Amino acid sequence: MKTNGRKSTLTVGGRDLRQVMGEQAHTEPSPSSLKGASIPDLSGPTSRQEKIIKLKEAVTLTQEYTNEIISELNATNEEVTITRDYADAIIRTVRGPLLVLNQDLRIISANEAFYSAFKVAPNDTENRLLYDLGNRQWNIPKLRILLEEILPEKNTIEDFVVEHDFKDIGQKTMLLNARTLKQGPNKTSLILLAIEDITERKQLEEQKDEFISIASHELKTPITSVKAYAQILGQRFRKINDLKSVELAEKMDLQLDKLTSLIGDLLDVTKIEAGRIQFNESNFDFNELVNETVEDIQRTTANHRIDTALQSPVTIRGDHDRLSQVIVNFITNAIKYSPQADNIIIKTYVENAKVTLAVQDYGLGLTKDDQAKVFERFYRVSGSDQNTYPGLGLGLYISSEIIKRHKGHIWVDSKKNVGSTFCFSLPIATPEVTAKPKIVT
Ligand SMILES: Nc1ncnc2c1ncn2[C@@H]1O[C@H](COP(=O)(O)OP(=O)(O)O)[C@@H](O)[C@H]1O
Ligand SMILES: [Mg+2]
Repeated sequence: MKTNGRKSTLTVGGRDLRQVMGEQAHTEPSPSSLKGASIPDLSGPTSRQEKIIKLKEAVTLTQEYTNEIISELNATNEEVTITRDYADAIIRTVRGPLLVLNQDLRIISANEAFYSAFKVAPNDTENRLLYDLGNRQWNIPKLRILLEEILPEKNTIEDFVVEHDFKDIGQKTMLLNARTLKQGPNKTSLILLAIEDITERKQLEEQKDEFISIASHELKTPITSVKAYAQILGQRFRKINDLKSVELAEKMDLQLDKLTSLIGDLLDVTKIEAGRIQFNESNFDFNELVNETVEDIQRTTANHRIDTALQSPVTIRGDHDRLSQVIVNFITNAIKYSPQADNIIIKTYVENAKVTLAVQDYGLGLTKDDQAKVFERFYRVSGSDQNTYPGLGLGLYISSEIIKRHKGHIWVDSKKNVGSTFCFSLPIATPEVTAKPKIVT
């Protein structure tokens, strides 16, 4: 028998309690109104004996009804216990530290992983305010903002990074995920706070970036020399009119350019990750930048014609070479991923104080899933089509970082097997901004 959805008619053993009691109440009785309804009218013409029998029956039914309510409550209690055990088991099983807090940020429970990671005992943790734990080592300004300002507004927080020097465990980088749960009739909040210690992972990432940075620097120097030798060889072969060898030397030069560009991408990524990328700002005409870049690429492209449709000239402010790098990335991708097509279309247009560049190809295209991921670091579309194209999956990541740092937007519209249009938009330079030349780091 369930409490939920109970009908308000009181029936026990198939009989209606009101009928038994001489049907006095017109309102349907509930357990709380049972007292009033259970007093039968003893002033009628019926004999005293009958009245006593009715009264006894009413008492028996009330007793039965009470027993039923009690057994129902027991069942509900059992359900609550099962649910609580279930939640407890989940909290204990989770490998990462997990805290359950009430809305005043007092700790209701914590799991084993929390106690061992932060070297604290349950007695010193439960029922304490989070900020008071272990010499107030959790009294972290960034965490306070997270729990007191951001969480009440958003109800969930994902992957929030907090760096802090903890008393017993030292400097740590923590990844926090939090969620509020509204419980009970008063909708009081519970906060689930999952804490992941990513200190080691972050150190490894930093070591990897450091390694890539050193390796790229070391590779750059010999490649520069080899490129110089290739050019000297080309000139010598030309002097003796050995055109076959000139062609080979030129091919070698081209491949070395590709290698230099790959190493350049690796270096850029390490600079972005370390926040060391520098932008040299100046004012320039956006269409001129597009035209120069297109001409450079067209010179080295035999199979694709690059068509341009550029709207009226606009001045923008930014790093000329870095923005050229983004356009090169878009166009070289468009060429690389549309081997069957013979043209690429470049458009610019001005709207709402912004200039937009669109590079359209009729190539492999991208699924919706891939469109959401292509700007991520190292992301490359997998599949038999794409596997044949070399690359590191860094060009679009670097491009998106460059555009973001110029307060612009970057996006792609694409259809699988039809083609893609990669776009970015940038704010047009305003007179005040153009007045102060500066270097942004
Ligand atoms: N124009 C395009 N058409 C189809 N797929 C593309 C296009 N541009 C990029 N992609 C996909 O996005 C991935 C990431 O691009 P990018 O960051 O430039 O790296 P890379 O070209 O070195 O692989 C590519 O591997 C490719 O799968
Ligand atoms: Mg690329």
